[in-house]
Amino acid sequence: MRYCRISLLSGILLLQLALLTGSGIATAREQALPDDYCQWAVTDYAIAQPLCELAGDASRGMAIALDSGRGNCLACHQLPIPDVEAYGTIGPPLSGIGARLTKGQIRLRVVDTREINPMSIMPGFYRDPRLIHRPDKRYAGRTFLNAQQVEDVIAYLVTLK
Ligand code: HEC
Repeated sequence: MRYCRISLLSGILLLQLALLTGSGIATAREQALPDDYCQWAVTDYAIAQPLCELAGDASRGMAIALDSGRGNCLACHQLPIPDVEAYGTIGPPLSGIGARLTKGQIRLRVVDTREINPMSIMPGFYRDPRLIHRPDKRYAGRTFLNAQQVEDVIAYLVTLK
């Protein structure tokens, strides 16, 4: 009996060691940020400065929001677009978001909403890729949207008044 307990304990210890030295943790820390990653800063629950000072385009932003391979916002949100009947209800409808939030507040929600709600299930579309756990191979080491696409989506959302 005693022997069993010891071997169980050492088994757990070995497992913990394996997890700690596992390549996942080590590479996540060592990974470099992509060269073109735009730095951003949060003040008062908002990111005031556009990513890399880029100007967004609202019509491109709407297309990105609808595209299931890019923004895929419709998977979780209703958008006030005629003829779009299928949408998710996991997140709040985005009609009127431009009147409820400032542009900087919207930018923070799209860039990385976990800055305000660490438990959020909304993907951080411009989250530091080093913080994303086990992304799909296509997204390893990169953001889900690039900086221009993020600014385009924001330019679209501010028109929803
Ligand atoms: C997997 C589901 C999911 C996807 C995909 C998603 N969101 Fe969200 N979003 C949420 C949830 C849930 C919330 C509510 C707040 C929270 O839980 O963080 C939210 C909140 C928001 C808010 C704040 C709304 C408010 O009224 O305060 C904005 C703006 C937003 N999302 C924009 C977007 C945009 C733009 C996209 C696409 C580029 C997108 N979301 C994709 C789930 C999602």
